[in-house]
This record gives sequence, structure tokens and C-alpha cells, in this order.
Amino acid sequence: MKNRSPDFFSKPARIGFQIPDFEKLDKDILFPGSSTRKLRGKELANELILQCATLSKKHPLRPHLAVVLAGEDPASHVYVANKEKAFAKAGFSTETFRIPSAEVTQSRLIQLIETLNAKPDVHGILVQLPLPSGISSSNVLSAISPSKDVDGFLKENMGALALGEFSGALPCTPFGVMVLLASYGISVEGKNAVVVGRSNIVGKPAALLLLSCGATVTVCHSRTVDLPSVTKTADILVVAAGKKGLIGKEHVKAGAVVIDVGVHRNPDNTLCGDCRVEELIGHASALTPVPGGVGPMTIAMLLVNTASAAWSE
Ligand code: GUN
Repeated sequence: MKNRSPDFFSKPARIGFQIPDFEKLDKDILFPGSSTRKLRGKELANELILQCATLSKKHPLRPHLAVVLAGEDPASHVYVANKEKAFAKAGFSTETFRIPSAEVTQSRLIQLIETLNAKPDVHGILVQLPLPSGISSSNVLSAISPSKDVDGFLKENMGALALGEFSGALPCTPFGVMVLLASYGISVEGKNAVVVGRSNIVGKPAALLLLSCGATVTVCHSRTVDLPSVTKTADILVVAAGKKGLIGKEHVKAGAVVIDVGVHRNPDNTLCGDCRVEELIGHASALTPVPGGVGPMTIAMLLVNTASAAWSE
């Protein structure tokens, strides 16, 4: 594996992580009957989990993540279970604090976070969002010590990113998108990148990361007039709108790379994203599947951020 270590990956690279080279490995892996490359996040995430397990053998400290799961949101429970599984696979440890909504108060959450901040054997703290209604996520999140903010959501870490610095933890989903692109040898420098969605978790940090890596970035959102005319300018289109099937062929320039961050459940229980995949196969040059694209990469980057918190001096 060659170490291509772009600037945004410098912190994990210092502790031994490498961006896997999927460019050659995946040359022939296309969506069936098309020339559209399938950007296989699941396989790439597994490679990074393997790197965690290998690097673990060299480090005396076992990275440990504390998860705060407040309320009963079913999707959050599934996401947390997936995170716990990936940590176990990497040989890292987790402890999840489950608090039923009837017992959740802002002060209880802040008290728990303060206890976790003070424990040297807790390297990362993750508060699963969304929090139950009535609880201010910004008040709760800002109680986390910035060095343990493995989600990269705090002002200190997001601010560093806005200044073009990669000194703090990078938000896991946009970080995973950048690693996915780099693994496939897709450079963003000088490209037109369009991000659909302006959330603090995905859209905004994705735009900042793409900008820091030399892309010309446009951010679209629910108030954007004539969405297709903007998204069609994209060489790289990152879709994080949270709207099932929003993006189809009419939004995408032929040959563009499309990253679908959306996750939605169909009536038959299968998953789908924000894109109408069947319209984009044979039209886009590369596309992330849902499931198996961005989702597993988000979890892999959480592992990398927790390892960085545990192992960086
Ligand atoms: N809810 C949806 N995505 C995320 C994430 O990446 N981190 C946290 N903490 N909550 C989420």
C-alpha cells in the first residue's frame, strides 16, 4: 500500500494510518452493465478497521470511546450498535450510557460528560444526535473536552477546520468522504464540488474540507433556486440533503462523481439514499452505493479519530 497521506490525513498518518489504495484494486468493479465505478466504502472501512487492529499491537493504550445515547430514537440505536460492533472488531473498547427520554435532562447529560472528561482512560466521547426534544445539543456538546471530541463537532475543532487547519478531529462523515475519494485516486484540487445540504454534521464541514483541499465549492440547500442548474456544474457532487430520491439524472453532469450521504428505509425494509441510483448508473463516472458507501466510512473515521485521541502526544 502506498502512503499518499494528503494534508487532511496528516494527523492519522503520524500515528501510522495509511489511506488504502483502491484505485487499482477496484479498477474492474463497476455497477453491473455500466462503466460507473462503485465506490466501495464498506470494503475500504474494513481495511481501516484492520489497520486499527494492526496498529493496536504497537501501542500500549487501548483506545476507548464513551457513547452517550439518550432517548429511544430507533435509528440512533442502530447506529450506536454498528459503532460498537466496529470498535470490537478493531480491538478497541466502548462503553455506552443509555438514558431513557423520561430520565434525560440537560444537567444530567452535562454531569455525565464532565465525569467522562475527567477519566484519563476515556479517550473519546460521542453524544449520539439527535438528542430528545427540549435538550439543547449545542449546550450538551460544548461540555465535551475538545481533545475528546472524536466527532469533531465542537467550536474548537470545527473552527480549526474553518481556518484550514487539520489539527483537531475532523467530522467523521465528511472525513470519510475525503478518504474515499483519495483511496480511489479522485483528486478534488481545481474541481467544481457542489455540496447539497448545509448541516453542521455533514454539509458545512464537507464544504470546508473540500475547500481546504483546493476544490471550488458551492453549497446548495432547501432555499436554493433551480437546484439542477447548480448541481450540474459539479465534477464532484456530495449529496447530504436527507431527502429520499432528491437527486436524479437531471441534476448530474455526465461523468461526475456522486457521493450519496443519505440513508432512508424503504417500505420493504431495504435502504436507499438521496439519489435515484438507477438513473445515475451509466451516467455518473463513480457513485457510492447505499448501503455500503459513506455509512461504513463514517464509522471507520470515528475509529481513526479515537485512535488519534488515544495515541497522539
Ligand atoms: N447522528 C447522525 N450522525 C451522527 C454522527 O456522526 N455523530 C453523532 N454523534 N450523532 C450523529
